[in-house]
Amino acid sequence: MNKPRLAWAITGSGHYIEECLNFLLTLDAVDLYLSQAAEEVIKMYGFNLTEIREKMPVYRDKAASSPPVGLFYTGYYHTFVMAPATSNTVAKCVLGIADSLVTNLYSQAGKCRVPSIVYPCDIAPEMETTAPKGKRVMVYPRQIDLEGTEKLGMFEYTSIVKSVDELIASVTARLAVVANEGATE
Ligand SMILES: Cc1cc2nc3c(=O)[nH]c(=O)nc-3n(C[C@H](O)[C@H](O)[C@H](O)COP(=O)(O)O)c2cc1C
Repeated sequence: MNKPRLAWAITGSGHYIEECLNFLLTLDAVDLYLSQAAEEVIKMYGFNLTEIREKMPVYRDKAASSPPVGLFYTGYYHTFVMAPATSNTVAKCVLGIADSLVTNLYSQAGKCRVPSIVYPCDIAPEMETTAPKGKRVMVYPRQIDLEGTEKLGMFEYTSIVKSVDELIASVTARLAVVANEGATE
């Protein structure tokens, strides 16, 4: 079998979407998954889907049953990353809802005991974020949003990261573990 790959999902969160995309574009053996909102939002932040497709396979949310999630059952993916994750997607995942491509990926990764690394957009009661065209704005996540982040962190096979630096460190460490496992097999 081919070496397992990394599945990375982006949702429609403008918060740190540029930093997440810029980092994942430096990685090899990644498949990118986009929620419907992410597909719209990445364009607003100046990214071109055609150019991203030249670097990696991109799966869009077009089917009701999310067929690519079957790949988790074949050992095709060693890790699932969801970064950035909107309040909406986190809330659904916390409730166990799997009614979109990205929420299905999270659910099926868990059911296949594949580790997930999640970077939720709601990590503090007050945050500065970047709107399209680079404008800096303040955002004040509600109690329910912050509770969602906390609850998701208690799910099995799930690690929450709270900054871009933590995300990069966590993904890099996981890739090193996977590479080491491959070398000793
Ligand atoms: C420019 C732009 C930026 C957005 N940024 C955020 C964000 O940082 N966090 C968030 O929770 N939602 C944000 N949203 C709203 C989500 O895209 C919206 O809730 C969407 O339904 C989420 O769908 P998804 O979770 O399936 O990606 C943003 C929307 C737009 C248009």
